[in-house]
Amino acid sequence: MTSLDGRVAIITGAGRGIGREHALLFADEGAKVVVNDLGGANDGEGSDQTPAEEVAAEIRARGGEAIANADNVADWEGAQHLVNSAIEAFGDLDIVVNNAGILRDKSFHNMDAELFDPVIDVHLRGAFNVTQPAWKVMREQGYGRIVSTSSAAGIFGNFGQANYGAAKMGLVGFTNVLAVEGAKYDIKANAIAPLAKTRMTEDLLGGLGDKLNPELVSPLVTYLAHESCEPTGRVFSVGGGRVAEVFIAETVGYANTTDLTPEDLAANWATVTDREGYSVPSQIAEETALFLSALS
Ligand code: NAI
Repeated sequence: MTSLDGRVAIITGAGRGIGREHALLFADEGAKVVVNDLGGANDGEGSDQTPAEEVAAEIRARGGEAIANADNVADWEGAQHLVNSAIEAFGDLDIVVNNAGILRDKSFHNMDAELFDPVIDVHLRGAFNVTQPAWKVMREQGYGRIVSTSSAAGIFGNFGQANYGAAKMGLVGFTNVLAVEGAKYDIKANAIAPLAKTRMTEDLLGGLGDKLNPELVSPLVTYLAHESCEPTGRVFSVGGGRVAEVFIAETVGYANTTDLTPEDLAANWATVTDREGYSVPSQIAEETALFLSALS
C-alpha cells in the first residue's frame, strides 16, 4: 500500500471523535481533506463551526491540506454545498466517509418521532445526501471509495436504540447496493462498526474506554479508502486495535415444495435454523441461486 497522496476526501462529522482521527490520518497519508462538522450537541441540537475549523487548522499546521465545512449532512442543500466545496477547493472528489452521527436513545415503549426522525435523518439520510452528489462525480471519473459508519447496535441490537439501530443497519443495505452498482466504475463501498471512546460513548464504556482510543479505528478506514482496496459491500467491526469481518449468512434451510404446512415447518425447524454449511451471498443473485438449488 502506498499513501492516499493527492486523493480528495470528504469526512463527515470530522470535528470530533472518530471522524477527527480519520481526518488527521488521511491528511498524514497525503489526502486533501474536507473536514465537515455541524458542531452540534450529542443529540444533534445546535451548531458550531469551531470543531471543523480546529481540525482543518490542525491538519494545515502539520503541513497537510484541509478545509473546514460546517454544513448539516441531514439537509440536502447542505450536503450538495459540502460536495461542491470539495470540488471547488481541490478540483476532485475520490473518497466519502459517512461518519456524522447523533444519539437520541429511549426504550421503544417511549420512543416518538422527535427521537426517531432526526437520528434517521443524520445517519441514513445524511449518508444519502452526501454520497448521491459525490456518486455522480465518482461514476463519471470511474473511481471512488465510500466508507459508511454502521454500528453493532444495529447489526446485533442494543436496548434503547431502535432509531439508531434502524439507521445503522440501513447503512449496511445502502452499502450493499452501492457495492453492486459501483462495481463497473471502480467504486468500492464498505461499512464499519466501530467501538471507541468519544463523547458519544464515554459514559457507557466505563474502564473499557481506556482500551478504545478512536485513533485505532482510522487505519481500517484508510485501508478501505485506498485505491488498492479489494473488498466491497463488506462490513468490518473495529476497535481497540482489533479488526474483524461481520457478514450476513443464510442457512441451507428446509424445503418442501409440495406440502409446506405450519406443522411440517415446526417439525423441521431445527433444519431451517441449522447453521452447518451456511452461505454468505455477496448479492441478491447469489441468494436467488441458493433458492433455485434448494427447489430443484
Ligand atoms: P462524536 O459525537 O464524537 O462525533 C460525531 C460528530 O458528528 C460530532 O462532531 C457532530 O458534531 C457531528 N455531526 C452530528 N450531526 C451532524 C450533521 N447533521 N452534520 C454534520 N456533522 C454532524 O461521536 P463518534 O463516536 O466519533 O461517532 C462517529 C460515528 O461513529 C457516528 O456515526 C457514530 O454513530 C458511530 N459509532 C460510534 C461508536 C463509538 O463507539 N464511538 C460505536 C458505533 C458507531
